[in-house]
Amino acid sequence: MSDAPRKVFPQRIFSGIQPSGGLTLGNYLGALKRFVAAQEDGIETVYCIVDLHAITVWQEPQKLRHATRELAAGFIAAGIDPARSILFNQSQVPAHAELAWIFNCVARMGWLRRMTQFKDKAGKHAEEASVGLFAYPNLMAADILAYHATHVPVGEDQKQHLELTRDIAIKFNHDYGVEFFPVVEPVIEGAATRVMSLRDGTKKMSKSDPSDQSRINLTDDADAIAQKIRKARTDPEPLPESLEGLEGRAEARNLVNIYASLADILPEAVIGEFGGQGFGAFKPALAELAVEKLAPINAEMRRLMEDQAEIDRLLGQGAERAQAIAEPILAQTREIVGLIRSRTG
Ligand code: TYM
Repeated sequence: MSDAPRKVFPQRIFSGIQPSGGLTLGNYLGALKRFVAAQEDGIETVYCIVDLHAITVWQEPQKLRHATRELAAGFIAAGIDPARSILFNQSQVPAHAELAWIFNCVARMGWLRRMTQFKDKAGKHAEEASVGLFAYPNLMAADILAYHATHVPVGEDQKQHLELTRDIAIKFNHDYGVEFFPVVEPVIEGAATRVMSLRDGTKKMSKSDPSDQSRINLTDDADAIAQKIRKARTDPEPLPESLEGLEGRAEARNLVNIYASLADILPEAVIGEFGGQGFGAFKPALAELAVEKLAPINAEMRRLMEDQAEIDRLLGQGAERAQAIAEPILAQTREIVGLIRSRTG
């Protein structure tokens, strides 16, 4: 590769969330809350409800429709303003699927075989997994690169997919001798890049965990939130006086990080306030904070879900704006690849 300075692309933020079940506290702190912060920074923000990703595993159509609208309500309730950010569902902008096909022809089998998320999701049944589940990271690269996005805020678990996105952009640019796709920057920051299960501090908090006690859902009411935090697994020691004291205490560290992220303070400050105190004191404070921050989002989501036609209308408007960005980029991509434009209409 040459040492020539890379072309500088204007900043644009893109990220997505799957409508495959409800939003968890992990999605909120690791992604959604930071999407809102990015919107406030004044950079163009494009947020996508990735319904085509969701169907890589079986989705009941009726539930998928509900989850898509509920996720849209979650975005808006958390602070995404559909007038300032572009908010839409992926399947409404065909550029995603089309660019994904081109990337299927750029990415190598070996690259995808290394993806740990495929291994985790397909488990021992890789032969029965859908082809879509295997090729999923190429669609994710297409989501991002169809907008020439430069920055992608995500939780820690998406890091490997973003590295693949970079590899695809580099290989495409190299193979075709262009500087067309930006090499994206993952934005994985804050105290809650990996929120862990409330039942097991070594496992990620996930919507697919069979135990509902392992996670806080954005649809949980105040009682459920408080009860789940009260019952969260911990050790018998009080909180340490310094951050190093959390070493080897995954559950304690997780609760401290959740507190820090909800309160917009550093984990050090949480330790400064609660160091030396037991969970008997810390858990009620955390529960109170979580309810204070999440209950208004929960209430707003319910209110928005009463007018589903309005949600569809907002998503449709977002899709029009998304299409206006992605379609010219796709037209240039076809040109670069050598797909002739034969239609005049
Ligand atoms: P998904 O739908 O699994 O999760 C959405 C976002 O939430 C983050 N996240 C977490 N962060 C911290 N702690 C957790 N326990 C936790 N669980 C989930 C994820 O890292 C993610 O940022 N492939 C993506 C969706 C996607 C996408 C994209 C993202 C499709 N196309 C393009 C960015 C750009 C996914 O399955 O995320």
